Amino acid sequence: MCGIVGYVGQQSALDVVMAGLGRLEYRGYDSAGVALVVDGKLATEKRAGKLANLQAALAEHPLGASGTGIGHTRWATHGAPNDRNAHPHVDCTRSVAVIHNGIIENFAALRAELEGRGHELVSDTDTETVAHLLEEEYPRSGNDLAEAMRRVSRRLDGAFTLLATHVDAPDVVVGARRNSPLVVGLGQGENFLASDVAAFIEHTRDALELGQDQVVELRSDSVVVTGFDGSPAEVREFHVDWDVSAAEKGGYDYFMLKEIAEQPAAIADTLLGRLESDGRLRLDEMRLSDDELREIDKIIIVACGTAFHAGLIAKYAIEHWTRIPCEVELSSEFRYRDPVLTRTTLVVAITQSGETMDTLMALRHAREQRARVLAICNTNGSTIPRESDAVLYTHAGPEVAVASTKGFLTQIVACYLVALYLGQIRGTKFGDEITSVVRDLRDMPDKVASVLETMEPVRALARELRDATSVLFIGRHVGYPIALEGALKLKELAYMHAEGFAAGELKHGPIALIEDGVPVFAVVPAAKGRSVLHDKLVSNLQEIRARGARTVVIAEEGDTAVEPYADQVIWIPSAPSLLQPLLSAIPLQVFACEMASARGHDVDQPRNLAKSVTVE
Ligand code: G6P
Repeated sequence: MCGIVGYVGQQSALDVVMAGLGRLEYRGYDSAGVALVVDGKLATEKRAGKLANLQAALAEHPLGASGTGIGHTRWATHGAPNDRNAHPHVDCTRSVAVIHNGIIENFAALRAELEGRGHELVSDTDTETVAHLLEEEYPRSGNDLAEAMRRVSRRLDGAFTLLATHVDAPDVVVGARRNSPLVVGLGQGENFLASDVAAFIEHTRDALELGQDQVVELRSDSVVVTGFDGSPAEVREFHVDWDVSAAEKGGYDYFMLKEIAEQPAAIADTLLGRLESDGRLRLDEMRLSDDELREIDKIIIVACGTAFHAGLIAKYAIEHWTRIPCEVELSSEFRYRDPVLTRTTLVVAITQSGETMDTLMALRHAREQRARVLAICNTNGSTIPRESDAVLYTHAGPEVAVASTKGFLTQIVACYLVALYLGQIRGTKFGDEITSVVRDLRDMPDKVASVLETMEPVRALARELRDATSVLFIGRHVGYPIALEGALKLKELAYMHAEGFAAGELKHGPIALIEDGVPVFAVVPAAKGRSVLHDKLVSNLQEIRARGARTVVIAEEGDTAVEPYADQVIWIPSAPSLLQPLLSAIPLQVFACEMASARGHDVDQPRNLAKSVTVE
């Protein structure tokens, strides 16, 4: 939520920052802005709307050359998304420019205080207070911008990543970090700051992960990191294992299409190197000891959005394979219900970005209660894995489209690996059983690829249904969370009314929504004879068809039993029931993507959303 880039070096800072913002625009696209120090003065430009508006403004009014700059792309929290509230914000003397990601919770009190001392604030944002506080602290800190930033940071409550540049220090960018992401990119004679490595990946793959409550002073030839109190800080260096091509569209119209197509490789990469020849799983990043894991007597999964649906699916496998009771909770609800947590509770935080604030707060609450926390995450260097007791990384590569696809499938795979691992060390799964499930998992990339090859009828259906007012989704067992996910995808991308239901629950209310022509997608569990739920779902299909529903049925190849009740069948390859979601999710992703494009919406950047939601 909000993308931030800073640069100091020999290249044109404006070019570097604008290219970086282009890669971070998925984090927010309400407005964008940049600040440079040019000839001892601040040169700034900012515009409401997408980055293209800023680009047009810069083409009309060039800012001049500079090797030091900061840039921001905004997802609005305080203040309407207009030019005035766009970042950067400056102080009364236009000496310092500030950009910010997060929320400064005590900003109203700070603003009143500043106004009382004669400062004039021109925006409605919380961020602008920081520019004015820096204006006061800079001279008091001996004209040391990093020290001024430390002093100001100590006065702020809430979550923030801040970058600042000052006219008196034209070769420095200073950053501060609490609860929001900030990484350093280490170049040769140049250095970078950004919310996400994607912003500087074309320049360097060497990065530094900043910790909580740290300030960084960035120059072209040095990076100095301290705590908010000024003490030297420990930082972790890491190397990014993907390159710039992974962060580009590669010939696809949208990132989402590219990311849907990357799912076979993402699943394969997430499985890579995790099974020994003797059937033992090896989860390298599992920092909890086997003894600690053997003690676990309850698992609670916390997650948001699509990751929550991955958790709902994982619950079936976890309980089936480990016999450990498992609950799944929305992160934003978790800590407010006073959950029962002990040292033997394992809280599993599922998050693609590793930065979702609701999930971060849930894990902090869990750790305060002494529960152990395992993160399942796709983003190396992000906050949630760092604050967890253990982490298992999904290897999906960067996910840019706001609606999660490959992130989702790899989260399911990673959860299954954790479940199998727990089964292995607790003795509820033998090596041969684990090998057999992992073999089935290893077959999934090919099966996913074959589903992807047969999606044209799904796209045609989306175009045909583009004027529908409502679409429903039903499923049972692991098909139920898939129904929820199908509906979420359609809401977020196509802005349509869509709802997912447990098929058995229809008769208890939702069936009243069925009338002539209402499209209903049904996810049928494994073919007739392999699942007791198959026939029950077919009965549900008959019930809604009798009431006029237009049924679109996702079923395993050869399951002719569904044909009489389907207006259209989308065939998927046969797979064990627990693995079927990895296949049945795909037509629903494709349907939502095509529907959004047929309705003229921005597929990668749906309105009002952001990929990484770093506010509660
Ligand atoms: C946002 C995105 C969703 C995503 C959710 C959780 O709401 O729009 O697509 O599923 O955040 O994100 P995370 O990074 O924690 O998986």
